[in-house]
Amino acid sequence: MVRKKIVAGNWKMNKSYDEGIALVEQLLDELDMDKVGETHVIISPPSVLLQPITELLMFTPGIAVAAQNCHQEESGAYTGEISARMIKSIDADAVILGHSERREYFKEDDSLIAKKMKAVLANELMVIYCCGESFEERKTGNHIAVVEKQLRTALADFSTKDAENIIVAYEPVWAIGTGEVATVQQAGEMHTHIRKVLADIFGDTSQNMSILYGGSVKPDNAAELFAHPDIDGGLIGGASLKSNDFMSIIYALSK
Ligand code: 13P
Repeated sequence: MVRKKIVAGNWKMNKSYDEGIALVEQLLDELDMDKVGETHVIISPPSVLLQPITELLMFTPGIAVAAQNCHQEESGAYTGEISARMIKSIDADAVILGHSERREYFKEDDSLIAKKMKAVLANELMVIYCCGESFEERKTGNHIAVVEKQLRTALADFSTKDAENIIVAYEPVWAIGTGEVATVQQAGEMHTHIRKVLADIFGDTSQNMSILYGGSVKPDNAAELFAHPDIDGGLIGGASLKSNDFMSIIYALSK
């Protein structure tokens, strides 16, 4: 297995039904799949758009669909939640877990995220596991230790077989939605460390695991970040909401 190059668009809580469909239709019309080549594209819309977008992309194997979160239980009295089994039942491909917005606003920690990950993997979906330090943690020089702890807590109980279905996204909180992108040196240093931690947990399988960078990736900074050997792609927020920007970022990785 070779390490996959991936560009994933996390729409967060944006786009109505019609707007979301229009964005995917525009991508389908305009994205040159020959230029995309080996790069894997993932679209992560809000829950109400998961099913129609999965259907729209049914005949486009190069583009997968991810949910932005799920509950750890398969079913039950959890008003407002959706389960991994439901996401699997509409043929979506993946679930983003542990995004910093989930950690901050919904108080999710790595032991809860690990439970969710179990549910996602049990349903034969991929996981995009997000980690990253706050501004305070970087300022005090604790960023490497913080991210390592997140990884070790969340991933400790998983097998090398599971690891084949886990994508890691490094998203420094201070770079998310701020326009302040990490430098290649900052991101590269962290990605190289993340790969070391993954090697410690999963051995050689870690070499096949994709590590994405997220946080203010834009068409004008993507190529430089993606050129680093340990940065296997990006998890894109704001720029994934505009088809031209998202396509430019995809092409920056495909080069
Ligand atoms: P921005 O690209 O808007 O900074 O968001 C990054 C992100 O949080 C993706 O999950």
